[in-house]
Amino acid sequence: MSTQLQELSQQFETRFRQLVPFEQEPKNLYEPCAYLLQLGGKRIRPVLCLMAAQAFDADQEDAYHIAAAIELFHNFTLIHDDIMDKAPLRRGFDTVHAKYGLATGILSGDVMFIYAYELLIKSKQQPLGLLALFNKTAIEVCEGQQWDMDFEQRADVSIDAYLEMIRLKTSVLLAASLQMGAMAGKASEEQAAALYNFGIQLGLAFQLQDDYLDAFGEVAKLGKQKGGDIQANKKTYLLLKAMELANEEQKNQIEALLQSTAEDKVAQMLSLFEVTKAKDACKTLMQQYTQAAFDSLESLSIAPNKKEPFIQVTNYLLNREH
Ligand code: IPE
Ligand code: IPE
Ligand code: MG
Ligand code: MG
Ligand code: MG
Repeated sequence: MSTQLQELSQQFETRFRQLVPFEQEPKNLYEPCAYLLQLGGKRIRPVLCLMAAQAFDADQEDAYHIAAAIELFHNFTLIHDDIMDKAPLRRGFDTVHAKYGLATGILSGDVMFIYAYELLIKSKQQPLGLLALFNKTAIEVCEGQQWDMDFEQRADVSIDAYLEMIRLKTSVLLAASLQMGAMAGKASEEQAAALYNFGIQLGLAFQLQDDYLDAFGEVAKLGKQKGGDIQANKKTYLLLKAMELANEEQKNQIEALLQSTAEDKVAQMLSLFEVTKAKDACKTLMQQYTQAAFDSLESLSIAPNKKEPFIQVTNYLLNREH
């Protein structure tokens, strides 16, 4: 992380701690929220929001409230996502539902989502416009998450359908983080749209990288279970591309593995991702979306030096290991 990025995320962290109200009763509701938040995370969405806010000279307190609302929403989606994905680990520790139980995971997630609104409505700048975009985004994330689960059971998922699914479950929130920061600063509609589009491309690269790391990352750095997507038969780009590139024999192997619960399922699938060169194709596509992100940044009409933070954050995300 560059020093500028680090500074922004540290500034956010300090203000975020003051803004989140999870030191209250009932302890069994709020402690799991505080638990997940203090495990950190990259805080990439609030950083994007603050960057956009700075680029358009937004009121700083408004920007912090919006950024904090977005980070709370993101953490809520993680709690519920880990329930849906039956994930044991998050940010290097037990997931909320693994530690506190399923019912708590559901309710603590819910309350976190509502507190996101509490923060959002404190913004002095265009609260209705912000709320409309926030709601649209939250609905899209639900739609993406449902496609993601539906696809686990399906054998006919196209790469286009996968890309639309990750646009919904992941990209739109990155894009909205940028747009909401820009809106707080009274950017023009055109500028806000250009930043939103940058976020969509960045988000597609980001989720491809997330899928890649789930398969090929290092557990110690990842902080999540490795191979979870393979175990759940997630239709990731790696899997879909491996099916496309496979010869007849490899295709049969992949299909057999999708039905299998063998202990070496993950290891075998990983080697198929390698030999079919789906692994390389995933990296290539990630780089293409990163390039597309840079291209949409080109079309944003602000001073070139104001684009620098967005370039830095893109490079940081492309090279991340968790
Ligand atoms: C994880 O998001 C969920 C996805 C959309 C891929 P992050 O990778 O931003 O998770 P944290 O917040 O840094 O832990
Ligand atoms: C998560 O996608 C997207 C959302 C949380 C909305 P993943 O299920 O791939 O995220 P991780 O890998 O668990 O962080
Ligand atoms: Mg998921
Ligand atoms: Mg998950
Ligand atoms: Mg993942």
